[in-house]
Order: sequence, then structure tokens, then C-alpha cells
Amino acid sequence: MNREKVLEVKGLEQHFKVGSGRNKMVVKAVDGISFDIYKGEVFGLVGESGCGKTTTGRTIVKLYDATNGEILFKGQRIGGGVASYVKRIKQAKAEAKAEINALKSDTTTDNKEKIAQIKKDLKLLVKAQKQEIKRMKKDNAFKGELVNTMKQVQMIFQDPISSLNPRMTVKEIIAEGLRIGGLRDSKIIDEKVFEILKVVGLVPEHAFRYPHEFSGGQRQRIGIARALIVEPELLIADEPISALDVSIQAQVINLLKDLQSTLNLTILFIAHDLSVVKYFSDRIAVMHFGKIVELASSEDLFNNPLHPYTKSLLSAIPFPNPIYEKTRKRFSYDASVHNYSETNQPSLVDVGGNHFVYGSPDEIENYKKEVSKAPKAKTSSTPVEVVSEAKAEEKVVAKKPTAKKPAAKAPAKKADATTKKAPAKKPAAKKVTK
Ligand SMILES: Nc1ncnc2c1ncn2[C@@H]1O[C@H](COP(=O)(O)OP(=O)(O)O)[C@@H](O)[C@H]1O
Ligand SMILES: [Mg+2]
Repeated sequence: MNREKVLEVKGLEQHFKVGSGRNKMVVKAVDGISFDIYKGEVFGLVGESGCGKTTTGRTIVKLYDATNGEILFKGQRIGGGVASYVKRIKQAKAEAKAEINALKSDTTTDNKEKIAQIKKDLKLLVKAQKQEIKRMKKDNAFKGELVNTMKQVQMIFQDPISSLNPRMTVKEIIAEGLRIGGLRDSKIIDEKVFEILKVVGLVPEHAFRYPHEFSGGQRQRIGIARALIVEPELLIADEPISALDVSIQAQVINLLKDLQSTLNLTILFIAHDLSVVKYFSDRIAVMHFGKIVELASSEDLFNNPLHPYTKSLLSAIPFPNPIYEKTRKRFSYDASVHNYSETNQPSLVDVGGNHFVYGSPDEIENYKKEVSKAPKAKTSSTPVEVVSEAKAEEKVVAKKPTAKKPAAKAPAKKADATTKKAPAKKPAAKKVTK
């Protein structure tokens, strides 16, 4: 697989210093995550509220300066942090101090020269590290060529109400990106705005209205238009449908899916709900407390979840079938099962077929065994798809034809078994309903 990497995130950390005085503490919102996104791919980032998804997106689009790690867009460095350099300076200073103290306490020999040499070396090292920090900070500054590059990375936000300026017309909101990019010709701007409004399913007349005149779904379409007008290559969609009515969610998701294929967009799709990402993503990363605990293709993740946290997320997905719901067992994730220690450190490892799991060496061994035993299911049979409420019941009924397929995972098995009793009236609806 030799596809172009659009985004590379390497060991990204975003730590916030909060509080003051005795209440000072560091919130490790993002704590060393790494992933790549390939051209044309939809990459899902999923995890419960507060695990650091938004912070990841905001750091990529440079709304925050990263604490540590590196972000590359099409090979070009667009952001990163310097914490590791600062740490190296601190460490070198501490080591030099310890060495000097040891030499000083040794009164039998004259160590003056040795001490002078240590001090000289330290000075050189600190100078080099500081230069590196300076260079990186200069690289990170949001100006020059980087401004142009960053136009190719756009974000749509979770809340379509607060992310649109209420005092600007839709046209002004959408055209802002063009104006910032230096376009002044109002005729061309108008044309482009009208065109993009049509692309997102609105009409040119909408351009002269204000955000409050629109419904939630329409506002999210305005947000999408604003992001798309600058023709980005990478779109970061931060829970774009979670603030919308269930019946509108499928429409917006379908719009994004259409746009993705017609414009050949690469999308980082953030969600707290696994069922939404499954429908939309090629690969999915599951995030927990600032770390990626599992990363696999959408199919592998649903058919063969390995990390206990992913399993617990899957067990939380409801299915509109009362019989299945009665038997569905939810289990919560208990992080104390891991026994991590200084000598037993976890990391994200490929356990086979590009299925990455976060675990200690022992755990990884077990995951590898689990993967090799798992049957390779061609299509997922987990009964989870984005459906509007109105069609949900119909889907339960429509499940019958798939009941005989071998189920890959426990929840799916139960659902299939329990839906057997339901009379099959219609063939299985595979696509998301509008
Ligand atoms: N600007 C900030 N300052 C301090 N803490 C923050 C800031 N932004 C987010 N956090 C904290 O970082 C963690 C992750 O937040 P966030 O990225 O918004 O999570 P998610 O989008 O997954 O719900 C939370 O504990 C949140 O309180
Ligand atoms: Mg969020």
C-alpha cells in the first residue's frame, strides 16, 4: 500500500496548565498519540466525552500550540511542541550537577579540570537545544507560507449555533475564508458562495440571511460550506452531527459522504458514538484519556475488538429491538485490570494486519493469539447503523435475511438470534436512510 499520507501525527501531546497556587495542575488532554491519514480516507476518532478528541483536532488546525510531538501535512511540518527539548536540557543539567558534586566530594584528587570540562559540555548542549527550540517556535508561527498550507486543513465544529457569528450574513460568514486568502473581487466571491451553497444543499437566496433564521441542520450545512469554500484537502469534522436532531443526522452524514467522494476529501471524523463512525470511516482510532487504545480498519474493530475499552464502547451501543435490548449486557471498562508499572509499560503495537492495540508486552501477546484465532468475517454483522428513528423499526424487521450468517461477535450473535422471531417483511436495508 503506497498511498500518499496527507496527515502524520507523531507522539502528539497537548497538556494544559490549569489552576493557580496550590491548585495548579496539568491536564494531559492529549498524551502522546500517533496516527497517519491517507489521501481520500475517512479516519474516525472515537471516544467518550473529555478524552481529548476536540483538543486533537484543534491542535492539528493550530488553534493550540502542541506541547510535544509533531504534526506533518503532506510531509510539511505544520506544528509541534518543544517539551522534549526542554526536558533534555533539565536532564542534562541535573546529570552535570550530580557529576560535579561527586567530583567535588572526592578530596583526594584535583578535579578542577574535569569539572570545567563538564560545565563546558553542558553549556554547549544547552545552547544547541535552545537553538533548536527557537527554530521550532519560528517554524510553528502562523505566518508566511504556513498560512497558505493551513488553508488546506479546515475544521467543522460540533455546535453549529455558537460556531457561526450571529451578526454576519451567511454570505459574509462563508466568504470570510476567501477574503482572508486575499480575494477581493466581489463578483467572483458571490459566484463562489452561491455555488458552494448549492453544493451543501442550500439555495443562493440563503446567502443574505442570518444564522438564527436557519434550523440546526441548515446551520451545520453553512459550517460545512464555510470550510469547503477554500477547497481544503483535509477536513476535520468534530462531532458534526451530535448537536442535531436524529432525523437530520443522517442527512448531514450523507452530505458529508457525498462530498467526500465528489471532492476527494480526506476526513478526520470525530465522534463519541461508534455506530456513526462505523458507517462513515475506513479506519477507526479509539481514544481513552488522551491515548489511542486501539486502531484498526472499521471492519476489524467491529468484528474483532481487542482492547477492553473498545469492547465496553461496543457493548454500549443500543439497538432498536426490545428483545435484543433485554439481553444486551453492558459492561464498563476497569483500567485497573492492566497492572502497568515502570517495568511493564504499555505501547501501541500492531498485533497483525494493521490492527493496533495499546498494551504491555504480555497483553500484546494475548491480543496476537486472539487475532490469529478470530474468524475472518467478510462483512460485519453488528447490528449498528445510522438510521433515522422512523426507519429504525423497519430495520429490526429487515434483519432476518442476515440471521443465518455467522456472527463474529457476541452482541451481534444475540441480535441475530433474537431477531429470528421477527417476521421478515422486507429485505435488509443496507444503506443509511434519509
Ligand atoms: N483550553 C483548555 N484548558 C484546560 N483544559 C482543557 C482545555 N480544553 C480541553 N481541556 C480538557 O482536556 C480534556 C479533553 O477535552 P476535549 O478535547 O474537549 O475532549 P473531547 O472532545 O474528547 O470531549 C478535558 O478534560 C478538558 O476539560
Ligand atoms: Mg469534543
